[in-house]
Amino acid sequence: MDTPQNPAQAGDQPTMTDLKVPPLRIGDLVIDPPILQAPMAGFTNFAFRQIVREYGGVGLLATEMVNARGFHWLDENEAEFPDRLWGVEDEPRPLAVQIWDNQPDVMAKVGRRLVEEFQVSVVDINFGCPVKQVTEKAHSGSYLLRVPDRMGQIISRLVEACAPTPVTAKIRLGCSENTINANEIAQVVEESGASALTVHGRVAEQYFKGEADWERISEIKSYLKKIPLIGNGDLDSADKVYRAFRDYNVDGVMIARACLGRPWLFAQAAAAIQGRPIPAEPTLVEQRDCMLRHYDLVVDRFGPSKGTLLMRKFACCYAQAKPGARHFRSAVGNVSTPAEFYEVVEKHFPISPVPLPV
Ligand SMILES: Cc1cc2nc3c(=O)[nH]c(=O)nc-3n(C[C@H](O)[C@H](O)[C@H](O)COP(=O)(O)O)c2cc1C
Repeated sequence: MDTPQNPAQAGDQPTMTDLKVPPLRIGDLVIDPPILQAPMAGFTNFAFRQIVREYGGVGLLATEMVNARGFHWLDENEAEFPDRLWGVEDEPRPLAVQIWDNQPDVMAKVGRRLVEEFQVSVVDINFGCPVKQVTEKAHSGSYLLRVPDRMGQIISRLVEACAPTPVTAKIRLGCSENTINANEIAQVVEESGASALTVHGRVAEQYFKGEADWERISEIKSYLKKIPLIGNGDLDSADKVYRAFRDYNVDGVMIARACLGRPWLFAQAAAAIQGRPIPAEPTLVEQRDCMLRHYDLVVDRFGPSKGTLLMRKFACCYAQAKPGARHFRSAVGNVSTPAEFYEVVEKHFPISPVPLPV
């Protein structure tokens, strides 16, 4: 996305009034505001989703991706549900669960289970993951972009199994720069009965390198006749979300990395597209307190030892781009007990605009 011509900095209380963004419709579901929290493996668990929900501004939240075959195996063996379904049964709706695999029947069985037993609002299919374990080993995720027929089979079986709950697909632009086929894939997704398409504007071989190509995301819109287009990639400010709607013809947007340490970003983005004053960035003390609340939720579920280890990566996200973040990151990377965690937060979380001396 280009550099903003008139960048609206959060905290300046700008209002952007000339845009009327309607709610997003995914099947019968109304997503308002049309701003989605992306699925992120290892991050978007119940604790994170709960924090996001508390700040508001998000229309639809998603779990981490869940492997359908793994879930099916656990089910057959009467074992526990996958850990990644933590919270799903009881938390507020709407909520999307994302699954991945390449077997239409397995996907359909798991989708049905999620709908019947967990009453999820949306079943999303991962066709974008570039990680070798998913692509080369399991021929799933973004690997499937090179076999659109197979994608079509997976989607239509899942749609049939989950009806009337909507099924959505999340893709990248293609596997590589030479094999960009998102326009074609979009039609397959729509014709197979999916209720929405999310596009991350990079190809799989890029992983996260370079910039998301919003021109190409925008181009896809003309290939969709019925279902909404959700754009994803590099949205890290209220202003960029505003411009995504204004300039790129998307029906919804999805935010991933930028919300990890800034769960209040959704509320800022929602205000921007609704012409309300953009809420100021929380103070550093408020941000630290948000992180501590997140920590409590993680420890409640996983206990003090595992919870503290798990929290290390989240804590680093909260400190990111702040003065003194480097000290905090290296210190928090070694904590293994709550006492150590609190001590490091007390000493090193950058609540002062000037880096703390070490
Ligand atoms: C740590 C991490 C985990 C991710 N896990 C998933 C996932 O489980 N399913 C998925 O569809 N995309 C996953 N993604 C991709 C994001 O959903 C998103 O498409 C991508 O990060 C681009 O959006 P952004 O620029 O806003 O980060 C992941 C990304 C990151 C950084």
